[in-house]
Amino acid sequence: MQKKLNRIAKDTNTFLKEFIKKQKRSELIIPMQYGLFSGGKKIRSKILIDVGSLFKINYKSLIIVGSAVECIHAYSLIHDDLPCMDNDSLRRGKPSTHIKFGESTAVLAGNSLLTMAFEILSHKSLDISEKNKNNLINKISESSGHLGIAGGQYLDLNYEHKKVSKKNIIEMEKKKTGKLFSFCCAAPLILKNKKKKEIKKFEDIGSDIGLLFQVADDLIDHKGSIKIAGKKTGKDKKKGKATLISLLGYKNTIKYANDLIIKINSKIKKYGKKSQNLSHTLNYILNRNK
Ligand code: IPE
Ligand code: IPE
Ligand code: MG
Ligand code: MG
Ligand code: MG
Repeated sequence: MQKKLNRIAKDTNTFLKEFIKKQKRSELIIPMQYGLFSGGKKIRSKILIDVGSLFKINYKSLIIVGSAVECIHAYSLIHDDLPCMDNDSLRRGKPSTHIKFGESTAVLAGNSLLTMAFEILSHKSLDISEKNKNNLINKISESSGHLGIAGGQYLDLNYEHKKVSKKNIIEMEKKKTGKLFSFCCAAPLILKNKKKKEIKKFEDIGSDIGLLFQVADDLIDHKGSIKIAGKKTGKDKKKGKATLISLLGYKNTIKYANDLIIKINSKIKKYGKKSQNLSHTLNYILNRNK
């Protein structure tokens, strides 16, 4: 798994570095690069490639789409760490972007990474039909805005120190994290001109994968070590975050996550042997920090 992730990280970073190199310079490039190239597992790109392999999508296109996703992800982390949000000073084992460059610079570098995703998808280097480009940009925009990351982050902060129902916690996690995974699962089908109904099925699978990913992240925060996580742990409890762990307890949350894996596997098993890549990624998501 690590080998595959490393290859994806290398190819994604190569594309992004070339893309940035072709642009004019600006003062924001350095903090943007800091947020973008400070590490990161590239798990969203892995999901894109796993789903892409079910539909025989070419690797280069998937790396470009994944590069756009990683820009949005990096932006979301820079903003998530700001004092007005989670107020975290450590990210990927290094000082958070606002610690290194100041708050206003971090906000602007984050904004610029978000919009860079749209520059990448609309650029000619992604050689696909105008219609498919438009569909990708439409979906990734929805995943990032008030119905996706931003909306979910709003709920996450709003729910601090409150008693929140299981349904609402799941809705919040599916928005803040699940929506970008939904995009990663839908993108290969868009590239393959699949029907809306089939795309929706994969968006739902992506939503569950994203939920699994966030639950795993919450479990790591609860029990994991700062060394492996590259960020401080035990912070959700301190901040009074509404998580499934705070509601159901640690053991029940692990069971919930395992049940989610069973549910997702049952939906992809009709793709036979080809679905094994995705299955392995699901197990990696839940077990990576043990
Ligand atoms: C962390 O995401 C934020 C969450 C959505 C839980 P990742 O764990 O994918 O972050 P990196 O990119 O690997 O650092
Ligand atoms: C972040 O969730 C979700 C985002 C969309 C950025 P967390 O706040 O749990 O992520 P970490 O633990 O700081 O990486
Ligand atoms: Mg947060
Ligand atoms: Mg956080
Ligand atoms: Mg977390």
